[in-house]
Amino acid sequence: MLGGQSGRSPPRRLRGSLRHDLLVFPRGDLCRQRGALLGSPSRDVPRDGAFFNRLLASAHGAFRAEEANVSVTNPKELAGRAAAELVRDGMRVGLGTGSTVHFTLVRLAERIRAERLRITGVPTSDDTERKARELGIPLVELGSVERLDLTIDGADEIDGRFDMIKGGGGALLREKVVASISEREAIVVGEDKVVERLGVRFRLPIEVVPFAAPVVERALVSLGATPSLRKRNDGATFVSDNHNWILDCAFAGGIADAARLERALKAVPGVVETGLFLGLAHVLLVGCNDGRVEVREK
Ligand code: 5RP
Repeated sequence: MLGGQSGRSPPRRLRGSLRHDLLVFPRGDLCRQRGALLGSPSRDVPRDGAFFNRLLASAHGAFRAEEANVSVTNPKELAGRAAAELVRDGMRVGLGTGSTVHFTLVRLAERIRAERLRITGVPTSDDTERKARELGIPLVELGSVERLDLTIDGADEIDGRFDMIKGGGGALLREKVVASISEREAIVVGEDKVVERLGVRFRLPIEVVPFAAPVVERALVSLGATPSLRKRNDGATFVSDNHNWILDCAFAGGIADAARLERALKAVPGVVETGLFLGLAHVLLVGCNDGRVEVREK
């Protein structure tokens, strides 16, 4: 049984408001500014970390501008728009999926028009592809790029190690493929998505080949999950962009050892991809209910 409670000690307890919660994250070396908290450059960031920190630093003014815009009070909109400031001319950008990234796309389109920003985007879903085309964001096929400079995506849950559950919108497979070729993955969330332990509040989506679904379901139960087939609002089975089904898995007490669970899930024939995104995120932008955006770098 891999889900549920185990003898492992839980992550350090996060107390109080998110503002205080962030102080207990690893490298919680935060520089508090009016209207935003910006992670100060870490000494041990990877080779290109300095470059990325400059991007974060130059984005800071924009976050304050957001704060000045009293019409932006939605935490998802705050985080989504702020992340678009990380994009620089000439970048190849992975475009995530969901209602938070929607605001990133809108802001990117504004910048493309106002600053003549030249970017090429790779969408992570049919929905994002359609939105990007409508907004005039140039797109290329995944196969025409080897690496992406930056991907901006949402999450359903993210913990203090930047491990995540994704796939609430059903785009987990393409999102993980795009994340895997991204130099940097920036995650945009409202503060309600930051959790102590994955899987306590949100069920883990697992994309499966329809033929194999009954077999996979039994295997998931033996791993401690309670799976249920995802349905659309009209009651029909939800079908992913890749023509697969999704089993949403509850774990009593949450997911105690996500890495071990991921290995076990990927070993089940018929599982195409899981919504566990481990070690893939580098930057976290949290839209707070009080109108600030908090930025953390791993
Ligand atoms: C889609 C995803 C989304 O990024 C995730 O569900 C968050 O969505 P939203 O920004 O609408 O809350 O993983 O597969």
